[in-house]
Amino acid sequence: MLSRRNLLGLVATGTLVSAGPCDIYASGGAPCVAAHSTTRALYSAYSGPLYQVIRGSDSTTIDISPLTAGGVANAAAQDTFCASTTCLISIIYDQSGSGNDLTRAPPGGFDGPEANGYDNLASAIGAPVTLNGNKAYGVFVSPGTGYRNNEANGTATGDEPEGMYAVLDGTHYNDACCFDYGNAETSSTDTGAGHMEAIYYGNSTTWGYGSGSGPWVMADLENNLFSGQAEGLNSADPSISYRFVTAAVKGEPNQWAIRAGNAASGALSTFYSGARPTVTGYNPMSKEGAIILGIGGDNSNGAQGTFYEGVMTSGYPSDATEASVQANIVAAKYATTSLTSGSALTVGSSISFRATTTGYTTRYLVHSGTSVVTEVVSSSSSTTLQEQASWTVRTGLGNSACFSFESVDTPGSYLRHSDFVLYLNASDGTKQFNEDATFCPQTGINNSGSGYLSIRSWNYPTRYFRHYDDALYIASNGGVHTFDSATSFNADVTWAISTGFAS
Ligand code: AHR
Ligand code: AHR
Ligand code: AHR
Repeated sequence: MLSRRNLLGLVATGTLVSAGPCDIYASGGAPCVAAHSTTRALYSAYSGPLYQVIRGSDSTTIDISPLTAGGVANAAAQDTFCASTTCLISIIYDQSGSGNDLTRAPPGGFDGPEANGYDNLASAIGAPVTLNGNKAYGVFVSPGTGYRNNEANGTATGDEPEGMYAVLDGTHYNDACCFDYGNAETSSTDTGAGHMEAIYYGNSTTWGYGSGSGPWVMADLENNLFSGQAEGLNSADPSISYRFVTAAVKGEPNQWAIRAGNAASGALSTFYSGARPTVTGYNPMSKEGAIILGIGGDNSNGAQGTFYEGVMTSGYPSDATEASVQANIVAAKYATTSLTSGSALTVGSSISFRATTTGYTTRYLVHSGTSVVTEVVSSSSSTTLQEQASWTVRTGLGNSACFSFESVDTPGSYLRHSDFVLYLNASDGTKQFNEDATFCPQTGINNSGSGYLSIRSWNYPTRYFRHYDDALYIASNGGVHTFDSATSFNADVTWAISTGFAS
């Protein structure tokens, strides 16, 4: 790694293009004590593992490293390892050398959805992006997903100074508690005001909020999301509409700040900088030093969001240091890429979904009222049944890079999941409905041939259209529900797509 002296010298002469965010923080006197990213190395010299994935087929794992020191993740290695099966992100390694890896969050004040109370792991393919044209994957956090380290080394405790930033997907959020990255309790329980200092992203109005309808960058300081010094509204904290967001929070004795900007261009703006909240408990702070991602301090796990990279520092970084980090993030050139793969679907066309599991291959996905099941259908079936088996492809209601499926015989009604059961429901136009009705088709997990697809849920990308006992669910491979059974999972989630019986 470059020494601080060399780094400063190179920056001064303007020749250093490769310093990573943590090289920049170190040269600014606030070194990273945690550095997490599934997309790239955060030090120019880092070539170790970025993250680990575990695959469904045999529960083996692989570490994904940068293509080159300081570079973008080797997503192709993941794609090869995960071909024809499912993969989850099991470890997000700490690049700082402090050993502060993030793993599946344990139960706390709130239990996670796993049988043992742990949170879910994220799909390894829910958040594809490119950095400077190279494909990489972020961490797509659905409600119930979370990562944590309750034995972190070197992070701020008590009222010690720290900084942090995270690069997030500004279009993936909700109003539940709490899509956070940063400092939290070591017990996974709510131990009171001032026991956290984390970046929050979403449109919760339970505690603080900003101008407009959100989402906002705020600070989760425990038992409160603060947008500024006072509780409630800080009108200087704007709603965010960028696809890629840089969010930063920092705190030191009786001083803290919220700063954010477009991770793809421009500078950070300061939404709050000043004294600690006047509400009792937040001055001085009582930080505990654990690290959370995607959850609240007490393991509240209702929130959603996407994390690409983030760090925590020891020491309060200057605005100038953060400006250099932001320039580095912009230079990394985050951009969107396709959320789908395999045979293309045509918006406006009518399609049918045929099961491919041996013994069930004459059955099609049909609706019966609002229920969704499989039935034997053929060209000699009744017109009614043929229409019930036919679906018009629409642009995804919740994400235009994916699709929604509208009933041919019930216009205005779409396939959507609720409690992981697939239904046919009339659209109510809400953000929740739109997201529950959005699916990203990918190459068939059990058959990569033309015309075969697996239909991934946008907001729960570990979950796919699956028939189980001839009823339809969005199922994960080996998850907690009966319908998540690993037995015949790959076949049950692979569908033969044909022209619809009716249109
Ligand atoms: O501060 C907001 C939330 O309140 C915290 O994340 C959680 O621990 C508590 O429920
Ligand atoms: O199907 C999973 C979730 O269950 C949906 O996102 C939500 O609408 C319902 O609570
Ligand atoms: O849906 C029919 C069968 O029911 C599935 O193939 C199997 O997983 C379940 O037992």
